[in-house]
Amino acid sequence: MITVLQEMLLHLDGTPRVLSLNDDPLAEWSSHRAVSVDGPEDSSGTDRVDRQWRQVQDELDPDAMEDGFENHAYVRWFFLNNRVMPDFVGMAHEVDPHIASGLVERYESRCRGGVDDHADRKLDPRSKSAQHVYYLTRLVSQLPDLPRRHVLEIGGGFGNFARIALQLSMCAGYDALDIRNVIELQRRYLESCVEPAVFDEVRFHTVEDEDAMAGLRERRFGLVVSTFALTETPPAMRDWSLQLINGRADAVFIAGQESFGGESVGDQITSALEASFDVARTPMRWESSNLGPCFEILARRR
Ligand SMILES: C[S@@+](CC[C@H](N)C(=O)[O-])C[C@H]1O[C@@H](n2cnc3c(N)ncnc32)[C@H](O)[C@@H]1O
Repeated sequence: MITVLQEMLLHLDGTPRVLSLNDDPLAEWSSHRAVSVDGPEDSSGTDRVDRQWRQVQDELDPDAMEDGFENHAYVRWFFLNNRVMPDFVGMAHEVDPHIASGLVERYESRCRGGVDDHADRKLDPRSKSAQHVYYLTRLVSQLPDLPRRHVLEIGGGFGNFARIALQLSMCAGYDALDIRNVIELQRRYLESCVEPAVFDEVRFHTVEDEDAMAGLRERRFGLVVSTFALTETPPAMRDWSLQLINGRADAVFIAGQESFGGESVGDQITSALEASFDVARTPMRWESSNLGPCFEILARRR
């Protein structure tokens, strides 16, 4: 598993290349082998999941948490991936100081189980959790009725945004969609730290499950959220999601890289949404990122 995750770390710009021992940026993860992610797509499975994520999926063991959730290989990859973070609390204050300070205060008093939480319970401004509080600030500033909206999150990683939204009662309900083993990880993470009555209401769906995917198309969502996911998924998954959003969402928040795998995904997503939504697309300030220019879209149905 580590090997593929390491590979992904080297492929954040979407450019396939071969990892050699000399390239290894993560000396602490010593037991890796060289793997190429070049080559044709594996024809097995759905075209909604690309080969790279299928490899992660196959090697990702949701049970491998004996040393604590924060030591799970996927979670460590996630954080290594985000080693240099901007001051997201400062960015949130620029959006709206009142909302930002209210959310930070509530985070520090109510939220539990954050992998990047400090013992003093102060929110680290340069943390993943602060990034997710920044997203919430953006959302609340544009959608003041956010707590009454039912959220669908596509590609939520191990579930940190979901955890915060649920613990802060920032949604009326939550559905999560991701690849099979990541959704399992997310399910276990949220079960470990979200109030049981709230957790019981969360619905988890996998992109490999055709019935679940069809079921989502029957639903309506007050908000669809997808950060650094739809920009990275194969075109078939992106198209499927954009169709769902166009047909079934009242609002959408998407963040990600402008360009991925040689495609202008920011432009593609914007033009797909413009048919039904008023789309506000802004650059996302993250100078230290190795993802290249990033954007945020907050769009409301016309
Ligand atoms: C870079 S992580 C982003 C996680 C989180 N949203 C964040 O911003 O930190 C990419 C996410 O997309 C998910 N993903 C990858 N391929 C996918 C697919 N075909 N369909 C849905 N989700 C996918 C991954 O499992 C992961 O949760």
